[in-house]
Formats: sequence, C-alpha cells, structure tokens
Amino acid sequence: MITLTINGQSRQVDTADDTPLLWVIREQLQMTGTKFGCGAGLCGACTVHLDGVAVRSCQTAAKDAAGKKITTIEGLGGGKPHALQVAWEVEQVPQCGYCQSGQIMQAASLLAKNPDPTKQEIVAHMDGNLCRCMTYGRIQRAIVRAAADMRSKSGA
Ligand code: FES
Ligand code: FES
Repeated sequence: MITLTINGQSRQVDTADDTPLLWVIREQLQMTGTKFGCGAGLCGACTVHLDGVAVRSCQTAAKDAAGKKITTIEGLGGGKPHALQVAWEVEQVPQCGYCQSGQIMQAASLLAKNPDPTKQEIVAHMDGNLCRCMTYGRIQRAIVRAAADMRSKSGA
C-alpha cells in the first residue's frame, strides 16, 4: 500500500513496487485525462507534474511519487480552467486531442518557471511532446497567449 497526494487529495493504492504511476492514475484512480502513448518515455502523452516538475508518468514508479505533490490535467487549474486550457480553446489547438493533456502539462511546467518564454524557449521545452496531428504551431501560439494572459493577471 502506498499513499499518493494527487491533485490535493490523499489516495491510498495497493500496487506493486514497479507499477508505473501512469497505470495507477488511469486504472486504479480512474483519472483518464493522462494518456498512454508509447509507454517508453518518448512521446509525452503521459506527462504529469511531481512537485511542479513535468515528468513522464509511464517512466515513473508509483512508489517514487509517494511523498510528492502529483498534479494531473484534472487538477491543473485547481477547480477552474488553467490559463493554458483557456488559450487552448481560443486557439482551437486540438485535432484528435490525444496528445493534448500531456502538451498542456508540459507547457504548464514551463510557464511556472518562465512567465515570458521566447519562441525558442517554448520550442526547446516542448520538444519531447509529440503530436501526430502536427498541431505544433497552434500549441506554440496558445502558450504565448496563456503566458500573456497570466502576466496581465499577475500585473507583470
Ligand atoms: S506514454 Fe509516456 S512518454 Fe509516451
Ligand atoms: S492532436 Fe492528435 S496527436 Fe496531437
């Protein structure tokens, strides 16, 4: 039995030591916003935050997330849409949508530490998150929009 703190809630799960966090989130906790893509750390569809840092949940043992603050797409905005989710809608980013929660989680970790990223910084940070529908241009525009929105709301 391990205790995970996920989106602000404490959850107990009975799982093997080497079970990836992704499967605990999806199968045991039934939070299906986090996606399974490659299962090998190569696509970013499974991205969640551990203590605010974007990680691949398919490559993270659930036991290693114990004691850390886990955030998934369901908890990103803390009960209301995150600025990125608003911008995603305005820019009509998704096509099939499969990669998008991972994209948003990856982008959120960038904006948490860099409120005004350059195009190059955005491209570099998002580089490992793949989109088969090639929505990259819209993803970049949405990140720029969300960053501006967050800066204006914080008075920066
Ligand atoms: S499913 Fe984890 S990186 Fe692809
Ligand atoms: S929107 Fe289809 S894979 Fe990205």
